[in-house]
Amino acid sequence: MQTRTPRTSVEEIKQFDKNHVLHSWSVQSKIKPLLIVGGEGCYMIDAAGTRYLDLYSQLNYLNLGYQHPRLVEAIKRQAERLCVVSPAYANEPAAVLARLLSEVAPGDLDRTFFTLGGADAVENAVKMARLFTGRHKIITRYRSYHGATFGAITLSGDPRRPPVEPGISGVVRALDCYCYRCPFGQSYPGCGLGCAEHIDTLINFEGPGQVAAVLVEPIVGSNGVLVPPPEYLPRLREICDRYGVLLIADEVMSGWGRAGQWFAVQNWNVVPDIIVTAKGLTGGYLPLGAVIVNARLAQHFEDNFLWCGLTYSMHPLCCAAGVAAVEIYRDEGIIERSQRLGELLMAGLQGLKEKHRSIGDVRGKGLFTGLELVKDRHTREPLVPWNASAAQMAPVQEVQRRLHERRVLPFIRWNSIFVSPPLVVSEAELEEAIAALDYALEAADALVA
Ligand SMILES: Cc1ncc(COP(=O)(O)O)c(C=O)c1O
Repeated sequence: MQTRTPRTSVEEIKQFDKNHVLHSWSVQSKIKPLLIVGGEGCYMIDAAGTRYLDLYSQLNYLNLGYQHPRLVEAIKRQAERLCVVSPAYANEPAAVLARLLSEVAPGDLDRTFFTLGGADAVENAVKMARLFTGRHKIITRYRSYHGATFGAITLSGDPRRPPVEPGISGVVRALDCYCYRCPFGQSYPGCGLGCAEHIDTLINFEGPGQVAAVLVEPIVGSNGVLVPPPEYLPRLREICDRYGVLLIADEVMSGWGRAGQWFAVQNWNVVPDIIVTAKGLTGGYLPLGAVIVNARLAQHFEDNFLWCGLTYSMHPLCCAAGVAAVEIYRDEGIIERSQRLGELLMAGLQGLKEKHRSIGDVRGKGLFTGLELVKDRHTREPLVPWNASAAQMAPVQEVQRRLHERRVLPFIRWNSIFVSPPLVVSEAELEEAIAALDYALEAADALVA
């Protein structure tokens, strides 16, 4: 397979990258990113031709694997036909994609505003919620990530927020639904769902007439794959309805089959007022986000000005990738596949938990799973602390090194190992992943009391 154009040598590329590129979320001098020049299915390929099993779907968006021929072809076809037209005009891929979204989204969510990615989708959803309700405040949660732009990072609880504060006004943060480390000191079941009632309390303290929306990731992604108990989201829906507050589901990461349904909320039959999505919407092949609103919001903007706009909104190339991706999810049974293979993956991870005392908890839905590492299973003390510094990460470095040695790359953040391979992963590839984790976790077990 041809993986690289021969214009620039590998050494030059590495040098140009080191000297001229600023990489995300890093101290530049401390990183040495692997140069990736190709990909095939679930494997990425470096400049030496080494193949790595991608267990995090890049940033949890490469749901259809690398170089899916139908997706590549759809982008090529659209590029030949029409690369650009502004959002002042209608275009075929955007119209067809919006129509497809109305078919796969739950309930009466059937009108879409297109953005470039997740953060701007979140921000535009918040704008719409404020315009629709005439209220200002947004309730979010601490263990959440909604994007890196100013509004989206303020809406997040992730440790990437404090260094760039102050942000936007009107954001109120709630404690989380995190059964393994319940912030209310309770255990599920029998806890009365204090985490949901807490949001009811916050709405009352903040003034129900001031709160526009509650914004949640239905399954928390980069802050630990936190799957709520079945009653949590339905209860949030009831609470929001009680006060005329909108429920916004951030499905940027949890959508597109990742959690075994088109959208994670469908696992609990909850219909939010707005779904925000991006990432897997194009299989990650081109940048695209979407704010999908229900009939009431759509009706509101029939007669009221929509104060939202982006030069690249409803970009025809990106939307053509979106149309092809949604058709592939549908035609190739990718959503059902995630559900089925997710059960296999979960069984494999539970098997690892039985064997490795460094695993405190295993969580997930579909092919959206994670392991939480502890020093001690009884006290649940994390193997490395929340928001660990580079120096504090030493205990997991050997785990990481061993995975690299086996050419298997999940995403490790503090004491969590995220396992969310492309949804086209095979059973044999899942076995390869479990075997590599089994080997790597021996290093973590050695540190456990
Ligand atoms: C749940 C969630 N929302 C929003 C975002 C932001 O998306 P983007 O990076 O496309 O702006 C992310 C990114 O990881 C995410 O995981």
